[in-house]
Amino acid sequence: MRNLALFAVLATAILVCGCGRQSQKPYNEGINIIPTPVELTRHAGAFTLKRSTRISADSSLDIVADYFSAKMSRATGYALGRGVAASDVIRMVVDTTLDVPSPEGYTLEVSPEAVTVTGKSAQGLFYGMQTFLQLLPAEIESPARVGGMEWTAPSVTVRDYPRFAYRGMMLDVTRHYNDVDFIKKQLDVLAMFKINRFHWHLTDDQLWAVEIKKYPELTRIGSVRHEQDGTVHEGYFTQEQIKEVVAYAGERFIEVIPEIELPGHALAALSAYPQYSCTGGPFTHRLVWGVEPDIFCAGKDETFAFLEDILTEIAALFPGRYIHIGGDECPRDRWMECPDCRARMKSEGLGSPAELQSYFVRRIEKHVNSLGKQIIGWDEILEGGIDPSATILSWRGTEGGVEAARSGHDVIMAPGEWLYIDKYQGAPEVEPVSIGGYLPLEKVYSFDPMPEGLTPEEESHVIGAQANVWTEYMYEPGAPEYFIYPRILAVAEITWSPASRKDYADFSRRIDGALVRLDGHGIGYHVPMPEGPLSDRMVFVDSIALGFGNTRDYPMVYTVDGTVPDVNSDIYTDSLRFTDNTSLKIATLLPSGKTGRVREIDIVREALSPASDAGTEPGVVSRTARGLFIDTVAMKDAEWSEPQIVDGFMKGRVESLDYKNPGVTVYEGFFEVPVDGVYTVFTDQYLLYVDGKPLIVNDGVTAIRHGLNKKTMALEAGRHKFVLVVNNRIVGGWPYTWSHATFYYIAPGTDKPIDIRRTELSH
Ligand code: ACM
Ligand code: ZN
Repeated sequence: MRNLALFAVLATAILVCGCGRQSQKPYNEGINIIPTPVELTRHAGAFTLKRSTRISADSSLDIVADYFSAKMSRATGYALGRGVAASDVIRMVVDTTLDVPSPEGYTLEVSPEAVTVTGKSAQGLFYGMQTFLQLLPAEIESPARVGGMEWTAPSVTVRDYPRFAYRGMMLDVTRHYNDVDFIKKQLDVLAMFKINRFHWHLTDDQLWAVEIKKYPELTRIGSVRHEQDGTVHEGYFTQEQIKEVVAYAGERFIEVIPEIELPGHALAALSAYPQYSCTGGPFTHRLVWGVEPDIFCAGKDETFAFLEDILTEIAALFPGRYIHIGGDECPRDRWMECPDCRARMKSEGLGSPAELQSYFVRRIEKHVNSLGKQIIGWDEILEGGIDPSATILSWRGTEGGVEAARSGHDVIMAPGEWLYIDKYQGAPEVEPVSIGGYLPLEKVYSFDPMPEGLTPEEESHVIGAQANVWTEYMYEPGAPEYFIYPRILAVAEITWSPASRKDYADFSRRIDGALVRLDGHGIGYHVPMPEGPLSDRMVFVDSIALGFGNTRDYPMVYTVDGTVPDVNSDIYTDSLRFTDNTSLKIATLLPSGKTGRVREIDIVREALSPASDAGTEPGVVSRTARGLFIDTVAMKDAEWSEPQIVDGFMKGRVESLDYKNPGVTVYEGFFEVPVDGVYTVFTDQYLLYVDGKPLIVNDGVTAIRHGLNKKTMALEAGRHKFVLVVNNRIVGGWPYTWSHATFYYIAPGTDKPIDIRRTELSH
């Protein structure tokens, strides 16, 4: 727990005396390096960067020297020219004989006279300089001159090198596209934290995002997705843009690994070239998330020729060692029904579709090897056997990684439970919709990439770990930043720093300054939200007390006068009691003085809604209409079927969805509540009316899942009328029919949601 009182004093001091030296801000106190170095000794005194400071580096190190002098010049406003000097100098050196066990290692000596950074390679030097920048005030990452600063770095001796050679992040640009500028921005920031691999997920069922000269339809058709509601989602990278990104990454010592998905997750490609499927199509992009049954045909030689041509162009664009060929989530149903695939199994003596998949991947691997590259594949490629030269990306857990290391494969750990940073970082009620699961910063940090029980030889095959950023629910351009940061900083530390130096309390302290560095890059990182009340409309009958907390125990500030809370507002200390209608605004306050997203809660007095004498017959009334209804306005023109009495709501997922004519179902009836009081009510369906009131209206929202939209209502014990509208359409890749057709209530004084389907319903 932070000391709230002390924090309040500091936060107020910052604001009141805006004149104060920025370098004295609390987040600049102490040593805040992420990832924490292997060895660091602190000495008396400090080095101060001044207008007169010179940078000394051999011309062979221009790329690194220019990169950092430009960066420091921007924030300080000093020109920082090159020159040799005995003092007031930053010396950059490469010494290949340096005593560190990795070419990425470095030493750093900061004294009041000079800074000396020695890398075992240019990359080691680059990391030594990143560490030096993290000893300076966080404002050094500012894109423009920051006045009133004293640019001091404490005197230290550092000897540092990575625990793992592979420290990565994957970005999916197929579910939602983000452009070159976005990617460059991330590369800038990832490099600050010594991440050295960028895995670029370029192709999938929902988009093909890379130009292939030999097959122009891949981008003309494959890179344009027509959503059910008529909107278009499109984007791809030209080969020139790819080269630009690869070069940009290279200057930051990040290797870019392209992923071309096969044999599954291929529907965007097949929309353009259906002849390489088993059935011949035609296909359109998959408009919902999940796993697609139509995949590349393993029987036709032309499919392999097509994929090999693509991989040949890809290999020429990416100078790194690896090409990722996918291999995950590949249903084999089409292969079983395909004469070509069956003939292939026969001619190759393959006993099962799993062996056919293995044949597919091996054949592709041979081609990739012939291009001078090695493959990486998701852990499914282990099934049916694969050459040991293939590197395995263990995502379904750590078991695939263990098995692979035992059989001599290199392994990268990316188990979903810890490293899929598309999951929730806080309570779903206050966070943007995500794929689900709960993965706060601390849990990412708790992961150890090295599994237990391996021999030293097997351990040597665990080359590192990466976080995966799947973008299904990241609808807006730039949205991935909210999911990436600060969690990727935990990934940086668990892959670089020795396990013996792991310390979450200290890490979370260091995060405070790191967030200010991210501010310098305009990163829209996650700030923990005030949690507690489940709804943003809290009803009461007599009075109500609301308690708040957040996932990193930051202070929170609030107002009740309609103004936006800031560092001057009241600090939340204990639960707030209300006896009148109030508009509460509450936000988390960071040590920088910046507030997170404001949570607005309407606190409303309501009389109990009276129970009804009607609704004595069992069953509910159901009516349906065919058609696609984008919103309630469109529904006004619906032609409804005759009402039917049904004994419950429609059941289960409707997998095969008619995109053009999905239909809508309305259920009307009565549900019964046990006691007088305020109920929390929610549904993932489209609309819910209770006692004639529109309680849940999910019109115009992006995908609704996980009971995000909860409301409260005061109900008298007894029967109440409801109308539930199940609009069978896709919103943001999620069909409403994949959520249960029902609604839930949480009774007063309890916390367990009651599924209305498990209660007596009537009409
Ligand atoms: C994956 O998450 N399907 C690799
Ligand atoms: Zn086939």
